[in-house]
Amino acid sequence: MFEKLEMAPADPILGLTEAFNDDPNPAKVNLGVGVYKDETGVTPIMNSVRRAERMLLETETTKSYLPIPGAPAYGEVVRAFLFGDAGAYPAATAHTPGGTGALRVAGQFLKKINPDATVWVSDPTWPNHNGIFGDAGFTVEKYTYYNAQQRTLDFDGMLTSMQAMKAGDIIILHACCHNPSGIDPTVEQWEQIAQVVNEKNLLPLMDFAYQGLGRGLDEDAEGLRIVAAAVEEIVVCSSFSKNFGLYKERVGAITLKAGSAEVVNAAFSNLKTIIRRLYSNPPAHGGAIVTTIMNDASLRAEWEGEVALIRCRMAQMRELFVKTLKTKGVERDFSFLMSQYGMFSFSGLNPDQVKTLRQKHSIYIVGSGRINVAGMTQHNMEPLCTAVAEVLAG
Ligand code: LMR
Repeated sequence: MFEKLEMAPADPILGLTEAFNDDPNPAKVNLGVGVYKDETGVTPIMNSVRRAERMLLETETTKSYLPIPGAPAYGEVVRAFLFGDAGAYPAATAHTPGGTGALRVAGQFLKKINPDATVWVSDPTWPNHNGIFGDAGFTVEKYTYYNAQQRTLDFDGMLTSMQAMKAGDIIILHACCHNPSGIDPTVEQWEQIAQVVNEKNLLPLMDFAYQGLGRGLDEDAEGLRIVAAAVEEIVVCSSFSKNFGLYKERVGAITLKAGSAEVVNAAFSNLKTIIRRLYSNPPAHGGAIVTTIMNDASLRAEWEGEVALIRCRMAQMRELFVKTLKTKGVERDFSFLMSQYGMFSFSGLNPDQVKTLRQKHSIYIVGSGRINVAGMTQHNMEPLCTAVAEVLAG
């Protein structure tokens, strides 16, 4: 049977990491996958994480299974992150293997309860959204989001697209640090989005993978909290990969909020059945790290400082990139990068330019032109900007 299969295309993001790892050029630069790197080009283990791991090593008493939704204390920590207060709403949380795991569980759960819904993703979006919800059996459609000429949010276009959605449809919203454009709605725009979601009776699915990497921990949750306060039911898929640097520990969560504890309990029991059949119960280690840090004042303070440093370094790199490009004689205005949030921006580089950067300079950028500013350092900025200037000059 396997002989019938042809090679599947490489993943547009993780496939790029494979190619990067295989590149022998010592000066290679990876601006592809959404992974933070420090000034020395390393994805560090945070000090707060190391301290929590040492504590866990001393105190852990068993390796027996977690419950299907993971440890209850982890669920409380997640909901406090999302809503500001773990008890703000009738809601329940399951620990999933990463944010991707949360989205996959959400896809299967939503297909069960609303099989005829269309899933709407922003144009553009994280490419895996299409695959995940397509595999779950949904028709996936795009709503207007990005104005490529002006490099801004096309908010009127977004509202117009939302008018075409039907009751029960699922709208995937990037809660902050939009991936790939780095452009988020303002507070006023979030309020309007929430209003239309309500009027049209849509189900919002908030993808929240970058809390703390944009403007701040609470600031980055503003959009989510506005939508959560306005609508009765919401699904949140969140991740601690980036803000705790726990990528390979696979620490994500799916949270359901509903109008009453009874509704949440019944919905959550169905979610648990799905999880039991997919992966039974989550891996424990990463969730225990996050819970340990958040429930210890000193660890928490240290971690908050570490996230602030990440945020600050990325903002500095945005500025330095724009400045250095100017010194290389680049006339195109890249200042839009400085008003965007998180790891990503659309550089405006076309697929040919992206290809030349990779083949000639070992600079890896996602084919769409999305760049990860966290891959930039003081050290690689000069050669990076020289190469970008060269490809822009044609
Ligand atoms: C990204 O968009 O680069 C990250 O979210 C990593 C991934 O899984 O694609």
